[in-house]
Amino acid sequence: MRHRFHSLCPYFAMFPESFAAEWIDSLTAPGDVVLDPFSGRGTTAFQALLMGRRSVACDVNDVAFCLTKAKTNAPKLFALRRRITQLERQFDSGAYRPRVEENGEFFRHAFAPRTLEQLLYLRDVVKWRESNVDAMIAALILGSLHGEIDASQTYLSNQMPRTISTKPAYSVRYWKQHGLTPPDRDVFRVLRDRAAFRYESDPPKGKALVFHKDMRELPRLRNKLPGHIRAAITSPPYFDVTNFEEDQWLRLWLLGGPPYPTRNRVSRDDRHTYEQSYWSFIADMWRSLGTVLSPKAHVIIRIGSTRVDAGHLERALTACSRFSERRVRHLSTSVSALRHRQTDAFRPGSKGIGIEADCHYRFDD
Ligand SMILES: C[S@@+](CC[C@H](N)C(=O)[O-])C[C@H]1O[C@@H](n2cnc3c(N)ncnc32)[C@H](O)[C@@H]1O
Repeated sequence: MRHRFHSLCPYFAMFPESFAAEWIDSLTAPGDVVLDPFSGRGTTAFQALLMGRRSVACDVNDVAFCLTKAKTNAPKLFALRRRITQLERQFDSGAYRPRVEENGEFFRHAFAPRTLEQLLYLRDVVKWRESNVDAMIAALILGSLHGEIDASQTYLSNQMPRTISTKPAYSVRYWKQHGLTPPDRDVFRVLRDRAAFRYESDPPKGKALVFHKDMRELPRLRNKLPGHIRAAITSPPYFDVTNFEEDQWLRLWLLGGPPYPTRNRVSRDDRHTYEQSYWSFIADMWRSLGTVLSPKAHVIIRIGSTRVDAGHLERALTACSRFSERRVRHLSTSVSALRHRQTDAFRPGSKGIGIEADCHYRFDD
């Protein structure tokens, strides 16, 4: 059975675990260290643990960090249940009732009053940065925060897509036009239910090292990294495709962010629209990889674009590898039209993507 942590929460441009699994299997042995410097929902990091590898992950986005940490440093189910009970006992709905109005119209239409009181409380008290138990609680809420109103009662919001947080004005207009009202959900009940569902399979034994950082900082954190990183299996933001920060604004709000969509506060690199700035970011990626990866390490990069063809992508990516200041050999590229691949997870509003390429490199030193 597919491990239920994999689908803890949808994430744009997530790759399927089969992609990570195949490369982990062919390039590494049990005990080897695998790095994903753009971890997203934590697919590579979690799959590596499932396959008995050691795992290092990094992402600049709060949602990505929280999901990756939750999956790869999962608490025991009994500890999770104990904390949910403690949080529920300490919840004073009277203290939060006056606050349901504070974020304006979107929130009043998105969540029923009781649900919003509970979310405001959990947003205040859940310490997802510091505690593995609280990271799992936050991740379970993130996975249920918005989605379809259906009989399964999994989602807490008025009708919304699961993958992205739609913009406030658009959402309110849509709900009014369709006469939709938010369902009255008890967040603690949903949390208990989701915990039982996700823990159907035991978490892996190992734990990943997860950094909440710009990946350009990895070289400075070298003394915290394991000595031999055997492979990097990753997918940087694609060229001019989507903005992870803006598209996840409601999840970022739950983790303490502002109650509206933002750009370039969490990440400067989500969506480069000029080739020059994009390739300079990719050159920085190579610089970091060159510093932290071990001799003979493999690098797998899934990359995509709306505007340039596969040959151009591959040539530019390969040309940037010189910024690693190591000898890099390009071993293969597999190109696909973007159907049934990572891009299926992009939001409908994102630009249609022409091409996605998987490039395999090895440091030859
Ligand atoms: C294509 S997604 C990765 C998806 C991932 N492979 C998965 O399966 O979920 C790219 C990620 O890069 C992150 N990111 C953007 N700029 C970054 C930076 N400078 N350093 C680290 N992470 C960054 C984004 O937050 C996003 O999560």
